[in-house]
Amino acid sequence: MSFISACWRQLTEVTPVWFMRQAGRYMPEYRALRERYSLLEMIRTPELAAQVTLMPRRLGVDALILFADILLPLVPLGLDLEFVPGRGPVLAHPIRTPQDVRDLRPVTVEEDLGFVLETVRLVRGEVDGRVPLIGFAGAPFTLASYMIEGGSSRHYLRTKRFMYEYPDAWHTLMATLAQVTLDYLRAQVQAGAQAVQLFDSWVGALSPHDYRLYVLPYTRLIMEGLADLGVPRIHFATGTAGMLPLIKQAGGDVISVDWRIDLDRAWEILGDDVAVQGNLDPVALLAPRDVLARQVQTILNQAAGRAGHIFNLGHGVLPETDVGSVEFVVEMVHSARSRGEE
Ligand code: CP3
Repeated sequence: MSFISACWRQLTEVTPVWFMRQAGRYMPEYRALRERYSLLEMIRTPELAAQVTLMPRRLGVDALILFADILLPLVPLGLDLEFVPGRGPVLAHPIRTPQDVRDLRPVTVEEDLGFVLETVRLVRGEVDGRVPLIGFAGAPFTLASYMIEGGSSRHYLRTKRFMYEYPDAWHTLMATLAQVTLDYLRAQVQAGAQAVQLFDSWVGALSPHDYRLYVLPYTRLIMEGLADLGVPRIHFATGTAGMLPLIKQAGGDVISVDWRIDLDRAWEILGDDVAVQGNLDPVALLAPRDVLARQVQTILNQAAGRAGHIFNLGHGVLPETDVGSVEFVVEMVHSARSRGEE
C-alpha cells in the first residue's frame, strides 16, 4: 500500500504512481465497452462501472480511482445532465438567477447516488485491499461553474459575473454544494473508499483574492468534515501556482500540483507537512520516448526521494495517449531508487 503510506508522508520502497483519467478512451477495452453503452449508462450500472474502475490494474498502478463523474450530484439537485459527443457535458437548466439557486432540490446520497456506493463496494470486494481505491467528488467552485455556464467554459464569464452580482445567492449555492459533497464523500468512504480526491479543476481561473473570499471557506468545510474518517484527502486543482498557500489553507493531506510550476518549487511553497502529487504534463505522454523519459526523470529528481511524493499527471490522461507510454511511465517510476534504499 505504498500509495496510502505516501499520502501520510511515510517513506516508501518505490514512489507510488497512478493517473487521473486512467480508465478512459485511450484504452481499447474501454472503447469497446463504450461502443455498447453511453457514459452515463456505464456509470449508473455498478457492475460496468466496477469493471472499468478495475481496467487500469494491468498498467501496474498503485491506486484505482472510482469510475464515476464529478457532475453526477447535479442530477438530483435538479439540473439535467447529458454528455454530448464532441461537446462534453451539457446541462439543460443552468443556474442564471438567485431564484434558480432557491429551486435546487435536496439530495439524499444513499437514494440519489446509491449506484456509486454500490460500485465502491463491488470494487473493494474484487481487489480485496491489494490496490487502494480512491473515491472522489467535484469541489464547489468547479461544480458551480458547470451549473452556471451550462457546460464547459473558457473564461468563466457567467460564473464570475454571478459571483460578483449575486454574492448572497453565490454563498448559498456554495454552501449547498459543500454539504452535498461532504455527505457524498463520507458515504463513499463508509462504502469502502480508502482515500478521497476533491477535484477543483477550474479554480485557477480566479484571483487569489476571489479564491479566499468566494471559495476557500467551502472547500475547507469539506476537508474538515472528512478529517475524522482517517483517510487521506487529496486536494486537486490546476493553474494554482500563484495561490498554493491558499490551496493548502483550504485543506488536504496531499496537494496535487500541475506542470505550470516545478515540483520542487511547489513543495518549497507548500512546506513539508503535506504530501505532494504530480506533476507531469499529460501532453508529455504523447512525446517521443526519450523526451517523455527526461520529463519523468526531471520530476523524480525534483522529488529527490522525499517521503510523500505521489507520481501523477498535472491533469487527466488525454484520449490520444498510447497505453504503452503510460506503462512506460509506471515502470520508470517504480524502478527509480527511493532515498530510503540509497
Ligand atoms: O479518473 C478516472 O479515471 C475516473 C473517472 C472520472 C471521470 N470524470 C470519467 C469521465 C473522473 C475522476 C472524472 C472527473 C471529472 N469530470 C472532472 C474533474 C477532472 C478534470 O478532468 O478536470 C471534470 C471537470 C469532469 C467533467 C467532465 N466529464 C467533462 C468536462 C467531460 C467531457 C470531456 C471529455 O473528456 O470528453 C466528462 C466526460 C468523462 N468523464 C469521460 C470520462 C472517462 C469521457 C469518457 C467518454 O465519453 O467515454
